[in-house]
Amino acid sequence: MRTAPAKGAATRDAAAKEAATGEVATFEVVLKIRRNNPEASGEHGAGAGYWQEFTVTVHSTERVLDALHTIKWEQDGSLTFRRSCAHGVCGSDAMRINGRNRLACKALIKDLNPTRPITIEPIQGLPVLKDLIVDMEPFFASYREIMPFLMPSGDVPKRERLQSPEQRERFEDTTKCILCAACTTSCPVFWTDGQYFGPAAIVNAHRFIFDSRDDAAWERLEILNDKAGVWKCRTTFNCTDACPRGIQVTEAISQVKRALNTGRI
Ligand code: SF4
Ligand code: FES
Repeated sequence: MRTAPAKGAATRDAAAKEAATGEVATFEVVLKIRRNNPEASGEHGAGAGYWQEFTVTVHSTERVLDALHTIKWEQDGSLTFRRSCAHGVCGSDAMRINGRNRLACKALIKDLNPTRPITIEPIQGLPVLKDLIVDMEPFFASYREIMPFLMPSGDVPKRERLQSPEQRERFEDTTKCILCAACTTSCPVFWTDGQYFGPAAIVNAHRFIFDSRDDAAWERLEILNDKAGVWKCRTTFNCTDACPRGIQVTEAISQVKRALNTGRI
């Protein structure tokens, strides 16, 4: 009697077939998803979270977001998650995948050891509204507080505000932020102290503090000098590891601290 190949062997066979025939391989994967519905009643009601496993057949080119769509459209329409662009631009689908914050639309299933169940949870430190959706309002409240817009002084100029490549380079990295919250919700200080502004707010303050066209750097630095500001950072680098845009988040926070310490921008 033939026995079914082990799942790891099946995944390897699929990859070998793909290489030989040029066809995109398919394989089965188990997604273990943290469910939560505060409005439900019964065993899983009143916000009692629980794990639910789904088995899906995926192509080797598919991402976690594709598998979540397959589950929602074919198995359980009540599964709830955010997404918009599906291409790593809008920042709406940050979630904790195999214990690490990532964008579901950028996480390829084949890179996540699909021979074992892939765990998917909401990002941590923000109230869960339903399944993988959290309340982002506390996150955006901190973002608004650092005044994330250009505040130049003087009259409106007749032509563009010019800037040298070197001046631009100082804040180039922090312009890449997509406000996904992966950094802030991977920070142990943020988990334990809801008052902390968090890395994303500091990154977005950095983007204007070091912009030569802006004249409100010290207003922002004063805000971040608060007890809920940059001094809460313990330099654990979780934020830098989590950022899907590759922003050097911890370095940006250090530059803000240095400006406060030296009085120089
Ligand atoms: S710094 Fe990176 S991880 Fe943090 S919100 Fe911006 S893009 Fe997301
Ligand atoms: S859906 Fe827009 S970043 Fe993933």
